[in-house]
Amino acid sequence: MIQANRLNQVSEYYFSTKLREVRALEASGKNIINLGIGSPDLPPPPQVIEALNLALLKPGAHQYQPYKGTGDFRNAIKEFYKNHYQVDLNPETEILPLMGSKEGITHISLAFLNEGDEVLIPNPGYPTYSSVTKLVGAEAVFYDLNEAGNWLPNLKELAKTDLSKVKLMWVNYPHMPTGASADESVFQDLVEFGKKHQILIVNDNPYSFILNEDPKSILKVEGAKEVVLELNSMSKTFNMAGWRVGMLCGSEEHLKAVLKVKTNMDSGMFFPIQAGATAALHLPKQWFSSQNEIYAGRKEKILELAEALECTPAKKQTGLFVWAKVPEGSTSEGFVDHVLHKYSIFIAPGFIFGSQGEGYVRFSLCATEDVIEKAIKRIKQ
Ligand SMILES: Cc1ncc(COP(=O)(O)O)c(C=O)c1O
Repeated sequence: MIQANRLNQVSEYYFSTKLREVRALEASGKNIINLGIGSPDLPPPPQVIEALNLALLKPGAHQYQPYKGTGDFRNAIKEFYKNHYQVDLNPETEILPLMGSKEGITHISLAFLNEGDEVLIPNPGYPTYSSVTKLVGAEAVFYDLNEAGNWLPNLKELAKTDLSKVKLMWVNYPHMPTGASADESVFQDLVEFGKKHQILIVNDNPYSFILNEDPKSILKVEGAKEVVLELNSMSKTFNMAGWRVGMLCGSEEHLKAVLKVKTNMDSGMFFPIQAGATAALHLPKQWFSSQNEIYAGRKEKILELAEALECTPAKKQTGLFVWAKVPEGSTSEGFVDHVLHKYSIFIAPGFIFGSQGEGYVRFSLCATEDVIEKAIKRIKQ
């Protein structure tokens, strides 16, 4: 059967093909150290596993659940946003649990984009923003981020362009892959920009607790809900990537539109997963410091590894990765292949996040200090 035309717009995800190559190298006897992907290897909090187990035996646990999630889960999200971001949300109308933030990118695009609408997408940025934009028949318009501009959008320059067809803008602070952060003034400018040009601003915020002292939500800006949505995720913050739990927060009007899509595509999340996620959201701040202590140790080692490979990391970075410039004269793909074949170490090339990522690589912190140490030794030997 001939596949739908929309599939001609997207190609197989880089990691899906590259990891096939990595597996083939492993099958040939090579011991590959994978520092390519951001899938947390640390365990979820024990309280979460306990809550999940208890919930398995509750009456009704295996039945369909409410589309909007359980009241307990939405209340836990409300408390979480209040405690950590000082944002007030109505748990009945302004919170929508999701099966991961990635799912939300599709639902939001289906809810707000018509064919031909334009969407502002960060370059470099998470590749899903552009692939989903193309799948729904909208036009991806990339806005460049660069090191000199601290990987922040230049809204003054953007305002000089024709924005008449732009309906939505993806932002992602703290930013993946560069680890750049946005302060309150950047969020304020974004909200103002959204209001002035009638653009829905969506901040994808899965990294705000990883190696970051001051987690922020764009929803804290006064009046933000008029033009802003925020996606958040349990994947990185609580080491629950495989659970597929995330959330969308914003105005009742915007969430109603997304719910219209979601109710037609899936049903409420498995009850024990919601119970486990609820327990995670109630954890004290000590959970974040305990994880960050581990990540800080790993990051030091990754910086050492980057130096051994003659890469230059940017000074101030948050999140689950280290973003670094490749040695003068290398391309990111060439450098990644060289490191893979010479040292059996896999890192992610920057070009997969967009043309502005060319010349950079991304190291993941999802490996133990011992493993990173082993990688350093391979290079120094
Ligand atoms: C920027 C960004 N957004 C969203 C996601 C997906 O998160 P989730 O696991 O909640 O779907 C990722 C995962 O790597 C990401 O890097």
